[in-house]
Amino acid sequence: MKKLFYLFILISLSAAVHAQSGRSVLDFDQNWMFNLGDVPNGQNVDFNDAGWRKLNLPHDWGIEHEFSKDNPATVEGGALPGGIGWYRKTFTIPQTDKGKLIYIAFDGVYQKSDVWINGHHLGYRPNGYISFRYDLTPYLNYDGKKNVIAVKADNSLQPNSRWYSGSGIYRNVWLVSTNKIAVAHWGTFVTTPKVSASHADVILSVSIKNAAGKTKLATVVSSIYANGKVVASKTLAGVSLKDTVTTVSQNLGVNNPLLWSVDKPFLYKVQTKILVNNVVVDQYETPLGIRYFNFDVDKGFSLNGVYMKINGVCQHHDLGALGTAFNVHALERQFKILKEMGVNAIRTSHNPPAPEFLDLADRMGLIIMDEAFDVWQIHKRPQFDSHLFFNEWHKRDLTDQILRDRNHPSVIIWSIGNEIPEQRDTSATRIARELAGIIHELDTTRPITTGNNEPGPGNKIVESGAVDLLGYNYHNNKLADFQKDYPGKKFIGTETASALESRGVYNTSPDTIQRWPGGMVVDGKRVARPMNADNTVNAYDNISAPWGHTHEETLKIYRKHAFLSGQFVWTGFDYIGEPWPYQWPSRSSYFGIVDLAGFPKDVYYLYQGEWTNKTVLHLLPHWNWEAGKVVDVWAYYSNADEVELYLNGKSLGTKSKQGDSLHIAWKVKYAPGTLKAVSRKNGKVVKITEVNTAGAPARIELSADRSIIRSNDHDLSYITVKIVDKNGIMVPNADNDVKFKLSGADSFLAGVDNGNQTSMESFKADHRKAFNGLALAIIGAKTKPGTVTITATADGLPAASLLITIK
Ligand code: GAL
Repeated sequence: MKKLFYLFILISLSAAVHAQSGRSVLDFDQNWMFNLGDVPNGQNVDFNDAGWRKLNLPHDWGIEHEFSKDNPATVEGGALPGGIGWYRKTFTIPQTDKGKLIYIAFDGVYQKSDVWINGHHLGYRPNGYISFRYDLTPYLNYDGKKNVIAVKADNSLQPNSRWYSGSGIYRNVWLVSTNKIAVAHWGTFVTTPKVSASHADVILSVSIKNAAGKTKLATVVSSIYANGKVVASKTLAGVSLKDTVTTVSQNLGVNNPLLWSVDKPFLYKVQTKILVNNVVVDQYETPLGIRYFNFDVDKGFSLNGVYMKINGVCQHHDLGALGTAFNVHALERQFKILKEMGVNAIRTSHNPPAPEFLDLADRMGLIIMDEAFDVWQIHKRPQFDSHLFFNEWHKRDLTDQILRDRNHPSVIIWSIGNEIPEQRDTSATRIARELAGIIHELDTTRPITTGNNEPGPGNKIVESGAVDLLGYNYHNNKLADFQKDYPGKKFIGTETASALESRGVYNTSPDTIQRWPGGMVVDGKRVARPMNADNTVNAYDNISAPWGHTHEETLKIYRKHAFLSGQFVWTGFDYIGEPWPYQWPSRSSYFGIVDLAGFPKDVYYLYQGEWTNKTVLHLLPHWNWEAGKVVDVWAYYSNADEVELYLNGKSLGTKSKQGDSLHIAWKVKYAPGTLKAVSRKNGKVVKITEVNTAGAPARIELSADRSIIRSNDHDLSYITVKIVDKNGIMVPNADNDVKFKLSGADSFLAGVDNGNQTSMESFKADHRKAFNGLALAIIGAKTKPGTVTITATADGLPAASLLITIK
């Protein structure tokens, strides 16, 4: 009883604090009406949307459709449709919000959005990746009367993107209410200019908006929290707030600071309270991680004084089967898979990410290169890409990106562009300097870079002097000479590799390194090199795009030179669109170290061996071949001196990596059975890995990445579907069509996939063929707790099921 009483006090206290805090941020994703296709006057309050589809955001309408080679986005854009979509939401404003300022905040709408409230046009925003908000206050109805928000997203002019962009309100939407005196939009900036083991200066600047119509005196109280406890606090009284925005600054010191790093990403939190007449009128939180870093011309990158390589990957924003519809759990899974591999950095190619992306990176310890543009004034796609609105919007877009993202400790580099065609145009000097100037006005604590695909002499962006870090895309052959070519300059590998693989495919000899598509010489004549008729690329790491390099080629050069501060591999995950080296019927990329479904390709273990301390011993390929075939067997290993290979108990010899090679290889005459690798260090066995010949498919095996998920309407459980033989060995070429059924608690199938770049099956179907033994089903939670059973069936195999708890 006593316990209950204290609980009651606690709840009423926290409710009071919330009410006092003056600011509310409401999830505004529920209950929107949607129509695919343009409508006249969809913004009008009395427009009849009763026949529209009801849905919750985030929403990507593209992913719900069939692939077609006729979609104007082309395979490069994912072969999915664009078009125009309308969204409407009817809502009332609670009485308690009367007299407040009320905003609607969009984290991102693809693209060219128009927003109306009660028929009044609030604004237009062409950039599909930028966050923006509108003030609804003057146009709202109160007293229980209805309000209508209408949003039109126009992604009809195609192709406008070099990758799958998705369409619609694909990120979160918030309803924000504040008092008339409140911290301005993205109105705080925290920096840590001096950090030592005993003390860190924490400088907080706070911009306060006063819309009260008269000058007010305020007190600003800022406190730093660590693990829920206040560790520093400052009060600034008598701040005169004129009828506009007033900026004040506070120096909060933290003693014995716990530093933010990729291994121990310790986070503080700054809480700022604005008081007028002793009443808290606003309470605002700013993330804080205390860290310092440096790029050294000779020694590369250091974080908190410790030299380390930036082991990064580039990522596009789609989430595989979910399309671009943002889901924090899906992103967290991607980050976990990448961190396990040893990734410590991500480049948000080639656009600003969802805000939660940076929250997660702060929390999980990832260094972020936050990129602004793929295109400036000169187009990459002739008619419709973002060059159309660069002139009018770049200043606003870049300003908003920096203001939104500059408090995140994870953000370490700003990129103002990727492979910008202006590299060869005199306009580069003016534009690069202008963009760098926009950033410097708002943040001087981070270096600026661009990804240059033509990093040699004559690069106008480099010559402009606007960038602090010289970013190379590819050009491994020039890296060793970097210090000669650019004396005194700091280096970052903005984009590397572009190697090509399909998971579980081993159909090309790995003996030579090849560039696809490419040429070869036959009878003295140069002819096109044949690629695979089934649009696959084998998973031995020996094929890359012509401008790129294999993973191993790239790792070798980056580990060799300290001044190469690090790299961002193209890419961590496969993404929808850009199916280089193929055209239709391919519709997603081959560049990923991990496939679109989240299943690692073999090279994942090469990186794990190089980028982590884990003990790796990975064997490829599978062990199901025609009798007598000579099979290339490769092993990646770490923390060992040598590896001995056995076939059915008979030793095939011991090998160790020679020269700078990062793998070992055997040619083995195939016989069914067990291929076993044993790694040893100083003669002691370190690890044993076996690959076994599989028999016929006998069972479906289901496993969940998370067996308990939350009833928050967007949590997900990823179910791996494995086709195995009677001994539980994965059947390496199994392609059984697996059908899924959910029963029990209210839930839904959020998507299915198998990582096959040429699959024309819908991501939203209730079945999926396995691809090389594996498929994926994603279960989405709704709002009710309970247990869900997923049952998987396939012709000729017994049904399998798995229980997921929704709490
Ligand atoms: C790069 C480009 C990336 C992607 C990649 C594929 O040149 O910056 O966006 O297209 O090539 O290899």
